[in-house]
Amino acid sequence: DGSKLKILEHEGFYIPTFPYPTHAQEYATLPTWKARDDDLLVCAYPKSGTHWLWEVVSMLKQQKAERIDAIKEWNMLEGMEQANFDSLPSPRILNTHIYFRHLPKDFKNRKCKILYMLRNPKDVAVSFYNHHSKVLEYEYSGSWEHYFTRYLKGDVDYGSWFEYTLDWERVMEDNPEYPIHTLHYESMKQNSLNEIKRIAKFLEIEVTDDLVREIDDLCSFEKMKKEKNKHEDVNEWKDKEPGMYRKGQVGDWKNWFTVAQDDLFDKFYKEKMSKSKVKIHSS
Ligand code: A3P
Repeated sequence: DGSKLKILEHEGFYIPTFPYPTHAQEYATLPTWKARDDDLLVCAYPKSGTHWLWEVVSMLKQQKAERIDAIKEWNMLEGMEQANFDSLPSPRILNTHIYFRHLPKDFKNRKCKILYMLRNPKDVAVSFYNHHSKVLEYEYSGSWEHYFTRYLKGDVDYGSWFEYTLDWERVMEDNPEYPIHTLHYESMKQNSLNEIKRIAKFLEIEVTDDLVREIDDLCSFEKMKKEKNKHEDVNEWKDKEPGMYRKGQVGDWKNWFTVAQDDLFDKFYKEKMSKSKVKIHSS
């Protein structure tokens, strides 16, 4: 009935099956991979703006507002083979949706800087639903109603948004000295110039106002959609339409959630996050 989602289980954790054929074997060796002191990690639950942040950070790091001739997927930690990881030139800007405890141990030894992005979980739900429906590899054609329950249960690749978010909160509490910069998708939308400057400060990169403005402009939703879609393989997408850049808005969930779903979500959130101090932005 199309309501199955094709994903892979690895030691009790769900990851996507693609686009790398050796994925499961490579993934198992990941904890032993060797880091470099100047490695940077962009960490986020899927659909939280990982592509956007990766692009901003990559431009900041090269200190040039110049389109990066690569896509975020090629620098995705759990999607690459070790040989490929080892041969990436420095500084490596990696991105990942896996938990802190699943990262290569060497990142932690070297205290490689982490940028952690959070997005309102209701918008994430809608974005992830569209992702699962449009990426053919998932073989998913379930209804939004069906997906809503699946998402709450965390029955998706990378597991529950709630568990993921609680885990990062715990990591930051347990490792107060670890350099982690937290960002919100909504603040990036609302005040991107300021947020880009804060990222630069965290990365100890000197920037001018002009550079920040130029990076912001190149990383706008419309420009990224136009440029980055050129690198997508249309055969991986439903109706041959790449869908990584969908709407790029805050609050689209209101067009999808019924009143009952909204109530249920809020109740679920309250229960799951009762001990959490995480503040979700809704505008
Ligand atoms: P929507 O589906 O709500 O449009 P990720 O990169 O983690 O997969 O997240 C994808 C989400 O970020 C999508 O959300 C996508 O449109 C949005 N996005 C991508 N680039 C963006 C940008 N430059 N500005 C704002 N949102 C962006």
